[in-house]
Amino acid sequence: MAIDGPAGAGKSTVGRQLAAELGLGYLDTGAMYRAVTFAVLRRGVDPNDVDAVAAVSRSIELSVADDLVTVDGVDATVEIRGRDVTGAVSAVAANSAVRTELVARQRSWADKRGGGVIEGRDIGTVVFPDAALKAYVTASPRVRAERRVAEIGGSVDEVEASIVERDRKDSSRADSPLRAGDDAVTVDTSELGVDAVVGVLRKTLEGRIGDRARGSER
Ligand code: DC
Repeated sequence: MAIDGPAGAGKSTVGRQLAAELGLGYLDTGAMYRAVTFAVLRRGVDPNDVDAVAAVSRSIELSVADDLVTVDGVDATVEIRGRDVTGAVSAVAANSAVRTELVARQRSWADKRGGGVIEGRDIGTVVFPDAALKAYVTASPRVRAERRVAEIGGSVDEVEASIVERDRKDSSRADSPLRAGDDAVTVDTSELGVDAVVGVLRKTLEGRIGDRARGSER
């Protein structure tokens, strides 16, 4: 199941609950791009040095579990959410060689488990175009900023401005830009609670599974 959408739209909360209800594993691919960025900064590599960053992405041992992210055995769970990583991650995510490496790791994660709930920006459009469910979860920039400030503090205006800027970078990059796929169900979470959103996704999933089964009977 592919869950895409912009930063702060509630993808993680919704994705984790959906995975728990369905008894599936859950993978946050944004945490993978953040973990590569963490390694890049730690090694003193320039995030815009395309070849050096690509080499880092290929060389690191990366583990992204629900509550623990490690890079070469070092706990990076807190730092990948910090200001330095957040400021540099868009450049790393725009690097095509990094994307090739992380997409391969994402596919292998799903292969090993026979599927799961996977969250990101390009999961339904690029990584798993045949996913059973493709969701595009979004919310207004203002609501997304308010949610982030409730979690980590700060000024809503400033956080909103940085969210708009990151959306712009993620949507305008050449490789795998953020966009809703044609066959994705779009859910605006601005005025919907988590249970309601998960309910919409489960209904859509049941409908798609039914469609597939009917398709294979023909
Ligand atoms: O979801 P997040 O804010 O943790 O994502 C961090 C960055 O990684 C963000 O700039 C978008 C990028 N990203 C991506 O390009 N592709 C993904 N599948 C997941 C995240």
